[in-house]
Amino acid sequence: MAPSEPTPAARVPRHLAVIMDGNGRWAERRRRPRVIGHRAGARTVNVCIDFCLEHGIEALTLFAFSSENWGRPQDEVGALMKLFLNALEREVDELDRRGVRVRFIGERERFSDAIRAQMDAAETRTRGNSRLHLTVAASYGGRWDLAQAARSLAADVAAGTLRPEDIDEAALGARVALADLPAPDLFIRTGGDCRISNFLLWQLAYTELWFTDLLWPELDAATLRRAIDDYAGRERRFGLTGAQLAARPDETAA
Ligand code: FPP
Repeated sequence: MAPSEPTPAARVPRHLAVIMDGNGRWAERRRRPRVIGHRAGARTVNVCIDFCLEHGIEALTLFAFSSENWGRPQDEVGALMKLFLNALEREVDELDRRGVRVRFIGERERFSDAIRAQMDAAETRTRGNSRLHLTVAASYGGRWDLAQAARSLAADVAAGTLRPEDIDEAALGARVALADLPAPDLFIRTGGDCRISNFLLWQLAYTELWFTDLLWPELDAATLRRAIDDYAGRERRFGLTGAQLAARPDETAA
């Protein structure tokens, strides 16, 4: 996918970024342990993948585990790790069969050897696929992402292969996660909170934001449809005026 092609709003988004919030509350409302909510949430991941495949959405980025989530109670972190491992083992064949390329962004070193091996295997197994680019952000934080990009540029400066004056938005943008994909067109967050919570801070600069009070395990295809219908009606101006956009020869130039 060409990373720089802008997306006209009156279409299906090319890249959807999602914060899957509300698993814990979903379980607590049922007087069940929080891990039951995460298990239900894993099923909703499949609903979301199916939706993207059916609607021709090219990239889906899911926030599965933030840098800050390591601070949760040990039993919840352990249960989530087990869930990730099981999901990877269970789903990768089917994802591969359906043409999904799976990748992970985040601080991979913090995961156990077993999980890292599964992540590597899923990436290797699906690397030839292009129908849907599925990125799972795990042990990820937007600030971490910017810091690792800055560190990588600084290393090149120290090695003498990059001049400080050549560091511009394009240079930094090329070192953050998802640099090979178009920026997310639409961001969806479930669970009722209207914030970005250290998700793709750089990449979401001009992304359309959509929030729902539904908890992640409650999300269904009809709600996703509402989100993309809403997106389709929005005017994306990217800092220009509506008149400037209207004067453009075709909407793909917007
Ligand atoms: C946020 O809800 C959700 C998480 C921290 C975990 C997300 C994990 C999944 C959806 C399951 C598996 C995912 C994959 C990719 C296999 P929360 O726990 O913060 O909910 P709360 O706000 O109600 O407490």
